[in-house]
Amino acid sequence: MDVKQIEALSSLITTSVAQLKELQGSLKTTEHSASTARAEFLKPSLQVVAAASQLIALVRTPERYLMDMSTAHQLSSSLRVVVETNVVEILREKGKGPKKALDIREISGYNRVNHQKLGRVMRLLATHHIFEEVSPNVFANNTISSAMDTGKSLAELEASPEEKYDGSNGIAALVGLFSDETMHNSVCIADILKAPETTNSFSPFDAPFSLAWPGTRNIKMYDWLSLPENRPRLKRFGMAMNGMNSMTPSDAILRGFNWSSLPQGSIVIDCGGGVGSVSLPIVQTCPHIHLIVQDTERVVAEAPAFWQANQPEALAQGRVSFQAHDFFQPQPAVNNNVAVFLLRMIMHNWPDAECVQILKRVRESSNRNTRIVIVDNIMLYASREQTIAGQDTGSSDPDALAPEPLLANWGAANSLSYKQDINMLSNHNACERTVPEFAALLSQAGFRIVEVHQAHQSWLPQIVAVPV
Ligand SMILES: C[S@@+](CC[C@H](N)C(=O)[O-])C[C@H]1O[C@@H](n2cnc3c(N)ncnc32)[C@H](O)[C@@H]1O
Repeated sequence: MDVKQIEALSSLITTSVAQLKELQGSLKTTEHSASTARAEFLKPSLQVVAAASQLIALVRTPERYLMDMSTAHQLSSSLRVVVETNVVEILREKGKGPKKALDIREISGYNRVNHQKLGRVMRLLATHHIFEEVSPNVFANNTISSAMDTGKSLAELEASPEEKYDGSNGIAALVGLFSDETMHNSVCIADILKAPETTNSFSPFDAPFSLAWPGTRNIKMYDWLSLPENRPRLKRFGMAMNGMNSMTPSDAILRGFNWSSLPQGSIVIDCGGGVGSVSLPIVQTCPHIHLIVQDTERVVAEAPAFWQANQPEALAQGRVSFQAHDFFQPQPAVNNNVAVFLLRMIMHNWPDAECVQILKRVRESSNRNTRIVIVDNIMLYASREQTIAGQDTGSSDPDALAPEPLLANWGAANSLSYKQDINMLSNHNACERTVPEFAALLSQAGFRIVEVHQAHQSWLPQIVAVPV
Protein backbone atom coordinates (compact mmCIF):
# COMPACT_ATOMS: atom_id res chain seq x y z
CA MET A 1 0.00 0.00 0.00
CA ASP A 2 1.37 3.43 -0.94
CA VAL A 3 1.10 5.03 2.51
CA LYS A 4 2.84 8.24 1.40
CA GLN A 5 0.25 8.83 -1.31
CA ILE A 6 -2.59 7.95 1.05
CA GLU A 7 -1.28 10.57 3.49
CA ALA A 8 -0.92 13.19 0.75
CA LEU A 9 -4.49 12.55 -0.38
CA SER A 10 -5.93 12.73 3.13
CA SER A 11 -4.07 15.97 3.76
CA LEU A 12 -5.51 17.39 0.51
CA ILE A 13 -8.96 16.38 1.73
CA THR A 14 -8.30 18.14 5.07
CA THR A 15 -7.18 21.42 3.47
CA SER A 16 -10.03 21.36 0.92
CA VAL A 17 -12.59 20.69 3.66
CA ALA A 18 -11.17 23.66 5.61
CA GLN A 19 -11.67 25.85 2.50
CA LEU A 20 -15.25 24.59 2.12
CA LYS A 21 -15.91 25.30 5.81
CA GLU A 22 -14.62 28.85 5.45
CA LEU A 23 -16.75 29.44 2.34
CA GLN A 24 -19.79 27.90 4.00
CA GLY A 25 -19.26 30.25 6.96
CA SER A 26 -19.70 33.21 4.59
CA LEU A 27 -23.14 31.90 3.50
CA LYS A 28 -26.33 32.34 5.48
CA THR A 29 -27.58 28.86 4.62
CA THR A 30 -26.37 25.35 5.39
CA GLU A 31 -28.41 23.94 2.53
CA HIS A 32 -26.38 21.45 0.50
CA SER A 33 -27.41 22.55 -3.00
CA ALA A 34 -27.24 26.29 -2.25
CA SER A 35 -23.54 26.03 -1.53
CA THR A 36 -22.24 23.28 -3.80
CA ALA A 37 -23.73 24.97 -6.89
CA ARG A 38 -21.69 28.15 -6.29
CA ALA A 39 -18.62 28.70 -8.49
CA GLU A 40 -16.20 29.34 -5.59
CA PHE A 41 -17.08 25.95 -4.06
CA LEU A 42 -16.19 24.12 -7.25
CA LYS A 43 -12.44 23.77 -6.91
CA PRO A 44 -12.32 22.65 -3.24
CA SER A 45 -15.24 20.26 -3.75
CA LEU A 46 -13.61 18.83 -6.90
CA GLN A 47 -10.45 18.32 -4.86
CA VAL A 48 -12.35 16.44 -2.14
CA VAL A 49 -14.11 14.18 -4.64
CA ALA A 50 -10.96 13.49 -6.67
CA ALA A 51 -8.85 12.80 -3.58
CA ALA A 52 -11.49 10.66 -1.86
CA SER A 53 -12.02 8.53 -5.00
CA GLN A 54 -8.28 8.08 -5.47
CA LEU A 55 -7.98 7.15 -1.80
CA ILE A 56 -10.68 4.48 -2.20
CA ALA A 57 -8.84 3.00 -5.21
CA LEU A 58 -5.68 2.82 -3.09
CA VAL A 59 -7.11 1.27 0.06
CA ARG A 60 -9.65 -1.17 -1.47
CA THR A 61 -8.34 -4.59 -2.48
CA PRO A 62 -7.97 -4.74 -6.27
CA GLU A 63 -10.55 -7.51 -6.56
CA ARG A 64 -13.14 -5.62 -4.49
CA TYR A 65 -12.46 -2.47 -6.45
CA LEU A 66 -13.00 -4.28 -9.77
CA MET A 67 -16.23 -5.84 -8.51
CA ASP A 68 -17.50 -2.40 -7.41
CA MET A 69 -16.80 -1.06 -10.89
CA SER A 70 -18.12 -3.98 -12.91
CA THR A 71 -21.44 -4.02 -11.05
CA ALA A 72 -21.98 -0.24 -11.30
CA HIS A 73 -24.69 -0.81 -13.96
CA GLN A 74 -27.05 -1.95 -11.17
CA LEU A 75 -27.08 1.64 -9.93
CA SER A 76 -28.18 2.89 -13.37
CA SER A 77 -30.88 0.22 -13.57
CA SER A 78 -32.16 1.05 -10.09
CA LEU A 79 -32.26 4.77 -10.87
CA ARG A 80 -34.33 4.03 -13.93
CA VAL A 81 -36.81 2.07 -11.79
CA VAL A 82 -37.34 4.91 -9.31
CA VAL A 83 -37.60 7.61 -12.01
CA GLU A 84 -40.07 5.64 -14.12
CA THR A 85 -42.23 4.65 -11.12
CA ASN A 86 -42.40 8.11 -9.51
CA VAL A 87 -40.85 7.10 -6.17
CA VAL A 88 -39.42 10.58 -5.50
CA GLU A 89 -42.78 12.29 -6.09
CA ILE A 90 -44.63 9.65 -4.00
CA LEU A 91 -42.32 10.28 -1.02
CA ARG A 92 -42.59 14.06 -1.39
CA GLU A 93 -46.40 14.02 -1.58
CA LYS A 94 -47.36 11.10 0.69
CA GLY A 95 -44.38 10.77 3.08
CA LYS A 96 -45.10 11.03 6.81
CA GLY A 97 -43.32 12.64 9.74
CA PRO A 98 -40.50 15.16 9.69
CA LYS A 99 -38.54 13.15 7.08
CA LYS A 100 -41.62 12.44 4.98
CA ALA A 101 -40.82 8.73 5.06
CA LEU A 102 -42.95 5.79 3.88
CA ASP A 103 -42.87 2.05 4.39
CA ILE A 104 -42.01 0.26 1.16
CA ARG A 105 -45.48 -1.40 1.12
CA GLU A 106 -47.09 2.04 1.07
CA ILE A 107 -44.80 3.24 -1.75
CA SER A 108 -45.73 0.08 -3.57
CA GLY A 109 -49.44 0.82 -3.02
CA TYR A 110 -49.02 3.98 -5.09
CA ASN A 111 -46.78 2.78 -7.94
CA ARG A 112 -47.88 -0.87 -7.97
CA VAL A 113 -44.30 -2.24 -8.06
CA ASN A 114 -43.79 -5.39 -6.00
CA HIS A 115 -42.72 -4.13 -2.57
CA GLN A 116 -40.04 -6.74 -1.96
CA LYS A 117 -38.29 -6.04 -5.27
CA LEU A 118 -38.70 -2.26 -4.97
CA GLY A 119 -37.30 -2.36 -1.43
CA ARG A 120 -34.11 -4.02 -2.67
CA VAL A 121 -33.75 -1.43 -5.44
CA MET A 122 -34.25 1.37 -2.90
CA ARG A 123 -31.73 -0.17 -0.48
CA LEU A 124 -29.03 -0.33 -3.15
CA LEU A 125 -29.61 3.36 -3.85
CA ALA A 126 -29.74 4.28 -0.14
CA THR A 127 -26.46 2.38 0.26
CA HIS A 128 -25.05 4.85 -2.28
CA HIS A 129 -26.52 7.91 -0.53
CA ILE A 130 -29.50 8.28 -2.89
CA PHE A 131 -32.59 8.16 -0.58
CA GLU A 132 -32.36 7.40 3.15
CA GLU A 133 -33.53 4.17 4.75
CA VAL A 134 -34.71 5.77 8.00
CA SER A 135 -35.69 2.42 9.61
CA PRO A 136 -35.96 -1.10 8.15
CA ASN A 137 -37.96 -0.90 4.89
CA VAL A 138 -38.92 2.75 5.49
CA PHE A 139 -37.50 5.21 2.98
CA ALA A 140 -37.37 9.00 2.60
CA ASN A 141 -36.02 11.40 0.03
CA ASN A 142 -32.74 13.11 0.78
CA THR A 143 -31.05 16.05 -0.97
CA ILE A 144 -29.71 13.83 -3.75
CA SER A 145 -32.92 11.93 -4.56
CA SER A 146 -34.90 15.19 -4.38
CA ALA A 147 -32.87 16.55 -7.32
CA MET A 148 -34.89 14.06 -9.45
CA ASP A 149 -38.23 15.54 -8.31
CA THR A 150 -40.22 16.76 -11.32
CA GLY A 151 -42.48 18.79 -9.00
CA LYS A 152 -45.57 17.09 -10.44
CA SER A 153 -48.44 15.85 -8.26
CA LEU A 154 -49.30 12.14 -8.37
CA ALA A 155 -52.63 13.05 -9.97
CA GLU A 156 -50.80 14.90 -12.78
CA LEU A 157 -48.36 12.02 -13.27
CA GLU A 158 -51.21 9.53 -13.42
CA ALA A 159 -53.25 11.63 -15.86
CA SER A 160 -50.39 12.60 -18.23
CA PRO A 161 -47.36 10.32 -17.81
CA GLU A 162 -45.86 11.64 -21.07
CA GLU A 163 -45.67 15.13 -19.58
CA LYS A 164 -43.79 13.97 -16.50
CA TYR A 165 -40.63 15.98 -17.27
CA ASP A 166 -42.24 19.14 -18.71
CA GLY A 167 -41.36 22.26 -16.76
CA SER A 168 -38.95 20.36 -14.48
CA ASN A 169 -35.23 20.99 -13.97
CA GLY A 170 -34.62 18.13 -16.43
CA ILE A 171 -32.49 16.04 -14.04
CA ALA A 172 -34.99 13.14 -13.86
CA ALA A 173 -35.17 13.20 -17.68
CA LEU A 174 -31.38 13.09 -17.90
CA VAL A 175 -31.24 10.17 -15.44
CA GLY A 176 -33.89 8.49 -17.62
CA LEU A 177 -31.93 9.05 -20.84
CA PHE A 178 -28.65 7.79 -19.34
CA SER A 179 -30.18 4.77 -17.61
CA ASP A 180 -32.42 3.74 -20.51
CA GLU A 181 -31.37 4.56 -24.10
CA THR A 182 -27.71 5.22 -23.36
CA MET A 183 -27.34 2.17 -21.12
CA HIS A 184 -28.99 -0.10 -23.71
CA ASN A 185 -26.61 1.26 -26.35
CA SER A 186 -23.51 0.86 -24.22
CA VAL A 187 -24.23 -2.84 -23.63
CA CYS A 188 -23.33 -3.31 -27.33
CA ILE A 189 -20.00 -1.39 -27.27
CA ALA A 190 -17.90 -4.54 -26.92
CA ASP A 191 -19.74 -6.25 -29.81
CA ILE A 192 -19.11 -3.28 -32.12
CA LEU A 193 -15.48 -2.89 -31.01
CA LYS A 194 -14.67 -6.58 -31.43
CA ALA A 195 -16.31 -7.11 -34.84
CA PRO A 196 -13.74 -6.64 -37.66
CA GLU A 197 -16.40 -5.06 -39.89
CA THR A 198 -17.29 -2.30 -37.42
CA THR A 199 -14.26 -1.76 -35.20
CA ASN A 200 -12.55 0.66 -37.63
CA SER A 201 -15.74 2.27 -38.87
CA PHE A 202 -16.48 5.86 -37.92
CA SER A 203 -19.84 5.91 -39.66
CA PRO A 204 -22.73 7.10 -37.47
CA PHE A 205 -24.55 3.98 -38.74
CA ASP A 206 -22.03 1.73 -36.94
CA ALA A 207 -22.63 3.12 -33.44
CA PRO A 208 -23.35 0.52 -30.73
CA PHE A 209 -26.90 1.98 -30.88
CA SER A 210 -27.27 0.16 -34.23
CA LEU A 211 -27.23 -3.24 -32.44
CA ALA A 212 -29.11 -2.21 -29.32
CA TRP A 213 -32.72 -2.05 -30.50
CA PRO A 214 -34.87 -3.94 -33.02
CA GLY A 215 -34.66 -2.23 -36.41
CA THR A 216 -31.85 0.26 -35.66
CA ARG A 217 -29.17 -1.21 -37.96
CA ASN A 218 -29.72 1.43 -40.66
CA ILE A 219 -30.89 4.50 -38.82
CA LYS A 220 -29.08 7.18 -36.78
CA MET A 221 -30.15 7.71 -33.18
CA TYR A 222 -31.53 11.24 -33.70
CA ASP A 223 -33.66 10.00 -36.64
CA TRP A 224 -34.84 7.02 -34.57
CA LEU A 225 -35.83 9.34 -31.73
CA SER A 226 -37.88 11.36 -34.23
CA LEU A 227 -40.02 8.34 -35.27
CA PRO A 228 -43.67 8.78 -34.21
CA GLU A 229 -43.55 5.71 -31.93
CA ASN A 230 -40.63 7.25 -30.02
CA ARG A 231 -42.36 10.52 -29.21
CA PRO A 232 -42.10 10.02 -25.41
CA ARG A 233 -38.39 9.28 -25.77
CA LEU A 234 -37.83 12.40 -27.90
CA LYS A 235 -39.73 14.51 -25.40
CA ARG A 236 -37.62 13.12 -22.57
CA PHE A 237 -34.46 13.73 -24.62
CA GLY A 238 -35.37 17.40 -25.06
CA MET A 239 -35.95 17.80 -21.33
CA ALA A 240 -32.72 15.91 -20.62
CA MET A 241 -30.82 18.57 -22.61
CA ASN A 242 -32.39 21.18 -20.32
CA GLY A 243 -31.19 19.05 -17.41
CA MET A 244 -27.66 19.24 -18.79
CA ASN A 245 -27.96 23.03 -19.03
CA SER A 246 -29.40 23.31 -15.52
CA MET A 247 -26.15 21.81 -14.18
CA THR A 248 -24.16 24.66 -15.73
CA PRO A 249 -24.12 28.23 -14.37
CA SER A 250 -26.67 30.13 -16.48
CA ASP A 251 -24.06 32.70 -17.58
CA ALA A 252 -21.40 30.06 -18.44
CA ILE A 253 -21.46 31.14 -22.09
CA LEU A 254 -20.11 34.55 -20.99
CA ARG A 255 -17.08 32.97 -19.24
CA GLY A 256 -14.70 32.66 -22.16
CA PHE A 257 -15.02 34.50 -25.47
CA ASN A 258 -15.40 38.26 -24.92
CA TRP A 259 -18.80 38.85 -26.54
CA SER A 260 -18.92 42.52 -25.50
CA SER A 261 -15.76 43.19 -27.55
CA LEU A 262 -17.72 42.65 -30.81
CA PRO A 263 -18.48 45.81 -32.83
CA GLN A 264 -21.95 47.39 -32.89
CA GLY A 265 -24.43 45.43 -35.05
CA SER A 266 -22.37 42.21 -35.08
CA ILE A 267 -24.21 39.08 -36.15
CA VAL A 268 -23.81 35.94 -34.04
CA ILE A 269 -25.21 32.65 -35.38
CA ASP A 270 -25.99 29.89 -32.87
CA CYS A 271 -25.69 26.81 -35.14
CA GLY A 272 -27.80 23.87 -33.94
CA GLY A 273 -28.77 26.23 -31.14
CA GLY A 274 -32.00 24.51 -30.13
CA VAL A 275 -34.39 27.32 -29.18
CA GLY A 276 -31.41 29.60 -28.40
CA SER A 277 -31.55 29.29 -24.61
CA VAL A 278 -27.75 29.11 -24.33
CA SER A 279 -27.38 32.42 -26.21
CA LEU A 280 -29.93 34.23 -24.08
CA PRO A 281 -27.25 35.69 -21.72
CA ILE A 282 -25.32 37.02 -24.75
CA VAL A 283 -28.37 38.96 -25.95
CA GLN A 284 -29.17 40.10 -22.40
CA THR A 285 -25.68 41.49 -21.75
CA CYS A 286 -24.74 42.68 -25.26
CA PRO A 287 -27.59 44.76 -26.71
CA HIS A 288 -25.39 45.67 -29.70
CA ILE A 289 -25.39 42.07 -30.99
CA HIS A 290 -27.92 40.51 -33.39
CA LEU A 291 -28.46 36.80 -32.75
CA ILE A 292 -29.64 34.29 -35.34
CA VAL A 293 -30.68 30.91 -33.94
CA GLN A 294 -30.44 28.06 -36.44
CA ASP A 295 -31.70 24.51 -35.96
CA THR A 296 -33.96 22.01 -37.70
CA GLU A 297 -37.40 23.27 -38.73
CA ARG A 298 -39.17 21.38 -35.94
CA VAL A 299 -36.89 22.80 -33.25
CA VAL A 300 -36.71 26.47 -34.34
CA ALA A 301 -40.50 26.52 -34.58
CA GLU A 302 -40.48 26.41 -30.74
CA ALA A 303 -37.94 29.24 -30.40
CA PRO A 304 -40.15 32.39 -30.64
CA ALA A 305 -42.26 31.16 -27.70
CA PHE A 306 -39.08 30.70 -25.65
CA TRP A 307 -37.90 34.25 -26.43
CA GLN A 308 -41.37 35.70 -25.88
CA ALA A 309 -41.30 34.19 -22.39
CA ASN A 310 -37.71 35.08 -21.53
CA GLN A 311 -36.62 38.21 -23.46
CA PRO A 312 -39.65 39.66 -25.29
CA GLU A 313 -37.98 43.04 -25.90
CA ALA A 314 -35.15 41.43 -27.93
CA LEU A 315 -37.83 39.72 -30.03
CA ALA A 316 -39.80 42.95 -30.48
CA GLN A 317 -36.66 44.91 -31.39
CA GLY A 318 -35.63 42.26 -33.94
CA ARG A 319 -32.35 41.58 -32.08
CA VAL A 320 -33.00 37.86 -32.32
CA SER A 321 -34.24 35.93 -35.34
CA PHE A 322 -34.58 32.29 -36.32
CA GLN A 323 -33.64 30.21 -39.35
CA ALA A 324 -34.46 26.57 -40.10
CA HIS A 325 -31.10 25.43 -41.42
CA ASP A 326 -29.31 22.11 -41.85
CA PHE A 327 -25.70 22.68 -40.80
CA PHE A 328 -24.48 20.23 -43.46
CA GLN A 329 -25.76 22.66 -46.13
CA PRO A 330 -24.24 26.02 -47.19
CA GLN A 331 -25.32 28.98 -45.05
CA PRO A 332 -28.18 31.09 -46.49
CA ALA A 333 -26.66 33.78 -48.76
CA VAL A 334 -27.92 36.60 -46.51
CA ASN A 335 -25.56 35.45 -43.75
CA ASN A 336 -22.50 36.92 -45.49
CA ASN A 337 -21.11 39.09 -42.71
CA VAL A 338 -21.17 36.95 -39.60
CA ALA A 339 -19.00 37.95 -36.62
CA VAL A 340 -19.27 34.68 -34.70
CA PHE A 341 -20.54 31.18 -35.40
CA LEU A 342 -21.32 29.49 -32.07
CA LEU A 343 -21.43 25.67 -31.96
CA ARG A 344 -22.34 24.39 -28.52
CA MET A 345 -22.53 20.64 -27.92
CA ILE A 346 -22.60 20.03 -31.67
CA MET A 347 -19.15 18.60 -32.42
CA HIS A 348 -19.47 15.85 -29.78
CA ASN A 349 -22.54 14.43 -31.55
CA TRP A 350 -20.66 13.75 -34.79
CA PRO A 351 -17.74 11.61 -35.99
CA ASP A 352 -14.72 13.51 -37.40
CA ALA A 353 -15.74 13.44 -41.08
CA GLU A 354 -19.16 14.95 -40.33
CA CYS A 355 -17.59 17.57 -38.01
CA VAL A 356 -15.25 18.66 -40.80
CA GLN A 357 -18.23 18.98 -43.17
CA ILE A 358 -20.09 21.18 -40.65
CA LEU A 359 -16.97 23.33 -40.09
CA LYS A 360 -16.36 23.68 -43.84
CA ARG A 361 -19.90 25.01 -44.32
CA VAL A 362 -19.13 27.60 -41.62
CA ARG A 363 -15.75 28.44 -43.20
CA GLU A 364 -17.40 29.13 -46.59
CA SER A 365 -19.43 31.92 -44.98
CA SER A 366 -16.59 33.36 -42.91
CA ASN A 367 -14.60 36.48 -43.66
CA ARG A 368 -11.22 37.30 -42.11
CA ASN A 369 -12.84 38.86 -39.02
CA THR A 370 -15.18 35.93 -38.35
CA ARG A 371 -14.66 33.88 -35.20
CA ILE A 372 -15.92 30.38 -34.48
CA VAL A 373 -16.67 29.54 -30.84
CA ILE A 374 -16.91 25.84 -30.04
CA VAL A 375 -18.37 24.98 -26.64
CA ASP A 376 -17.87 21.34 -25.73
CA ASN A 377 -16.03 19.17 -23.24
CA ILE A 378 -12.27 19.41 -23.66
CA MET A 379 -10.71 16.10 -22.77
CA LEU A 380 -7.51 15.97 -20.76
CA TYR A 381 -5.18 12.99 -20.63
CA ALA A 382 -5.14 11.16 -17.29
CA SER A 383 -1.32 11.44 -17.33
CA ARG A 384 0.55 14.46 -15.93
CA GLU A 385 2.11 14.97 -19.37
CA GLN A 386 -0.52 16.64 -21.56
CA THR A 387 1.40 17.44 -24.75
CA ILE A 388 2.20 15.17 -27.65
CA ALA A 389 5.34 15.95 -29.65
CA GLY A 390 4.62 17.51 -33.03
CA GLN A 391 0.94 18.28 -32.32
CA ASP A 392 -0.57 21.73 -32.07
CA THR A 393 -2.12 21.64 -28.60
CA GLY A 394 -3.26 25.28 -28.68
CA SER A 395 -2.74 27.52 -25.64
CA SER A 396 -3.67 25.42 -22.64
CA ASP A 397 -4.97 26.89 -19.40
CA PRO A 398 -2.66 25.58 -16.62
CA ASP A 399 -5.46 26.06 -14.06
CA ALA A 400 -7.35 23.22 -15.80
CA LEU A 401 -5.07 20.55 -14.34
CA ALA A 402 -5.57 19.05 -10.87
CA PRO A 403 -2.75 19.41 -8.32
CA GLU A 404 -0.50 16.43 -7.51
CA PRO A 405 -0.94 13.70 -6.34
CA LEU A 406 -4.36 13.76 -8.04
CA LEU A 407 -4.71 12.50 -11.59
CA ALA A 408 -4.05 15.51 -13.83
CA ASN A 409 -7.55 15.30 -15.36
CA TRP A 410 -9.26 15.39 -11.91
CA GLY A 411 -9.93 11.63 -12.03
CA ALA A 412 -13.34 10.51 -10.85
CA ALA A 413 -14.30 14.11 -9.97
CA ASN A 414 -14.39 14.72 -13.73
CA SER A 415 -15.74 11.30 -14.68
CA LEU A 416 -18.91 12.65 -16.31
CA SER A 417 -16.81 14.04 -19.20
CA TYR A 418 -15.26 10.62 -19.80
CA LYS A 419 -18.59 8.85 -19.42
CA GLN A 420 -20.10 11.33 -21.88
CA ASP A 421 -17.29 10.44 -24.29
CA ILE A 422 -18.37 6.79 -24.11
CA ASN A 423 -22.05 7.84 -24.27
CA MET A 424 -21.24 9.63 -27.54
CA LEU A 425 -19.54 6.47 -28.80
CA SER A 426 -22.56 4.37 -27.79
CA ASN A 427 -25.16 6.68 -29.27
CA HIS A 428 -23.56 8.21 -32.37
CA ASN A 429 -20.10 6.65 -32.96
CA ALA A 430 -18.90 10.14 -32.00
CA CYS A 431 -16.66 11.46 -29.23
CA GLU A 432 -15.52 14.22 -26.90
CA ARG A 433 -12.15 15.67 -27.95
CA THR A 434 -8.79 16.94 -26.72
CA VAL A 435 -7.42 20.32 -27.86
CA PRO A 436 -5.13 18.64 -30.45
CA GLU A 437 -8.13 16.74 -31.82
CA PHE A 438 -10.15 19.94 -32.13
CA ALA A 439 -7.12 21.64 -33.71
CA ALA A 440 -6.90 18.87 -36.33
CA LEU A 441 -10.59 19.12 -37.26
CA LEU A 442 -10.47 22.91 -37.41
CA SER A 443 -7.35 22.95 -39.57
CA GLN A 444 -8.97 20.59 -42.11
CA ALA A 445 -11.74 23.16 -42.46
CA GLY A 446 -9.38 26.17 -42.68
CA PHE A 447 -9.44 27.47 -39.09
CA ARG A 448 -6.79 27.79 -36.37
CA ILE A 449 -7.29 27.96 -32.61
CA VAL A 450 -6.53 31.33 -30.97
CA GLU A 451 -8.04 30.91 -27.49
CA VAL A 452 -8.77 27.95 -25.20
CA HIS A 453 -10.88 28.63 -22.10
CA GLN A 454 -10.49 25.37 -20.31
CA ALA A 455 -10.87 26.34 -16.63
CA HIS A 456 -13.02 23.97 -14.62
CA GLN A 457 -15.01 26.89 -13.16
CA SER A 458 -17.21 26.85 -16.25
CA TRP A 459 -18.50 23.35 -16.86
CA LEU A 460 -18.23 23.52 -20.63
CA PRO A 461 -14.98 24.95 -21.94
CA GLN A 462 -14.71 27.14 -25.04
CA ILE A 463 -12.39 27.10 -28.05
CA VAL A 464 -12.13 30.20 -30.23
CA ALA A 465 -10.77 29.83 -33.77
CA VAL A 466 -10.17 32.15 -36.72
CA PRO A 467 -9.97 31.50 -40.47
CA VAL A 468 -6.47 30.88 -41.84
C1 LIG B 1 -26.92 18.36 -28.26
S1 LIG B 1 -28.07 19.49 -28.95
C2 LIG B 1 -27.31 21.06 -28.58
C3 LIG B 1 -28.28 22.20 -28.59
C4 LIG B 1 -27.69 23.56 -28.15
N1 LIG B 1 -26.60 23.97 -29.00
C5 LIG B 1 -27.25 23.50 -26.70
O1 LIG B 1 -26.06 23.62 -26.44
O2 LIG B 1 -28.12 23.33 -25.82
C6 LIG B 1 -27.77 19.31 -30.70
C7 LIG B 1 -28.66 20.19 -31.55
O3 LIG B 1 -28.30 19.98 -32.92
C8 LIG B 1 -29.50 20.04 -33.69
N2 LIG B 1 -29.26 19.39 -34.99
C9 LIG B 1 -29.07 18.06 -35.23
N3 LIG B 1 -28.85 17.86 -36.55
C10 LIG B 1 -28.88 19.10 -37.14
C11 LIG B 1 -28.68 19.56 -38.48
N4 LIG B 1 -28.39 18.69 -39.46
N5 LIG B 1 -28.75 20.89 -38.71
C12 LIG B 1 -29.03 21.76 -37.71
N6 LIG B 1 -29.23 21.39 -36.41
C13 LIG B 1 -29.15 20.07 -36.14
C14 LIG B 1 -30.50 19.31 -32.82
O4 LIG B 1 -31.82 19.60 -33.21
C15 LIG B 1 -30.14 19.86 -31.44
O5 LIG B 1 -30.86 21.03 -31.13
